This record gives sequence, C-alpha cells and structure tokens, in this order.
Amino acid sequence: MRTLVTYVTRTGHTRKVAEAIFDGITGDKELKELADVDSLDGYDLTFVGFPIEERFSPAEPAATFLRRPEVAGRPVALFITHGASDDLPELRVWLNTCAAAASQVELVGVFHCQGELSEQMTQKMLLSKDERVVAWARTRESGIGQPDATSLQRARRWASETVGARRS
Ligand SMILES: Cc1cc2nc3c(=O)[nH]c(=O)nc-3n(C[C@H](O)[C@H](O)[C@H](O)COP(=O)(O)O)c2cc1C
Repeated sequence: MRTLVTYVTRTGHTRKVAEAIFDGITGDKELKELADVDSLDGYDLTFVGFPIEERFSPAEPAATFLRRPEVAGRPVALFITHGASDDLPELRVWLNTCAAAASQVELVGVFHCQGELSEQMTQKMLLSKDERVVAWARTRESGIGQPDATSLQRARRWASETVGARRS
C-alpha cells in the first residue's frame, strides 16, 4: 500500500501535522507540499491537509485540488488546521464546508486541530465588521502553541488507524 501525505501551509502549522501523520504511518509513503503533486496515480490513499482560510473554507489551493476531475473518486483523508478553538460553535459549519469541498473524492476520514492564528491575522480580524470573525479572533489565546504535542500525537494515531482500516 502506497500512501501520499500532502499539504498546503502558510505559517507552518499544517506542515507540523503533516509530519506527524507521515510519522504515524508505515509502509511505502511520501510527504510532499501540494504544489509539488502532479498526480495521485500510484497512491492507494492520500492525506490532504490545509488550513481553514478566508470565508471559512479550505485554503484555495487545496479546494482547487480537491475539485480536480482526476482526483474524483480517489480515497482521500483530510487533515485540517484552524485558528478557532474546538468549542467555537461555527467550527462545525466550517468543517462541513471543508468536507463539502471534498465531495467528489472517496472521503475516508477527517482530522482537525487548532493551529495558532498569526498575530498579524488576529489584528486584521479584530477590525472586521463581521462579528463572527471578531468572535473567533478573540479565541486566539486558546490556540497559542498549537498544534501542541497532544494534538500531534492525536494526528499520528488517527493516521495510523486510517491506514490500518484501509489495509484490512
Ligand atoms: C488568511 C487567513 C484566514 C483564516 N481564516 C480562518 C477561519 O476562517 N477560521 C479559522 O478557524 N482559522 C482561520 N485562519 C487560521 C488558520 O486556519 C490557522 O492559523 C492555521 O493553523 C494556519 O495553518 P498554516 O500555519 O499551515 O498556514 C486563517 C488564517 C489566515 C492566514
């Protein structure tokens, strides 16, 4: 079984999760930035990671990739990082938007965890006229230092279980 772990990152947090996932899986495996992926030919399973970005949806390169016709029907597991805390009610809606962006693939699992929101982005969001943006920007403090060792361990275990389930 050949597995690809690929990701989009702006500030490095999704890369940390990608590395944990890569570490958690055994067998023939590859780790690549999404920009370097030409095709999913030859992979039995692909982990695709991205941060939630503007308009509460997947970072654009990932959304575009997941909609490529040649990706349709392929087994894909998503890993998502977000600045908002896990208990922010809107997070469920954003995660559903992310899953919907992957509606063409065979979705075999979804992992998510917090990734520290940059100070620069927080300042910008606190000035937003959209009160939802302001509300979650205020949850930034809970994300400082994320993804932490516990989140990365969770990612490792999830990846291992996801690959195990495909093998069995
Ligand atoms: C332009 C931009 C938009 C963002 N929008 C959201 C958002 O809508 N919801 C959210 O929870 N986090 C949002 N974030 C926070 C990122 O998802 C989070 O910090 C993520 O872990 C960053 O991952 P990266 O370091 O791999 O780029 C946004 C960050 C940026 C830079």
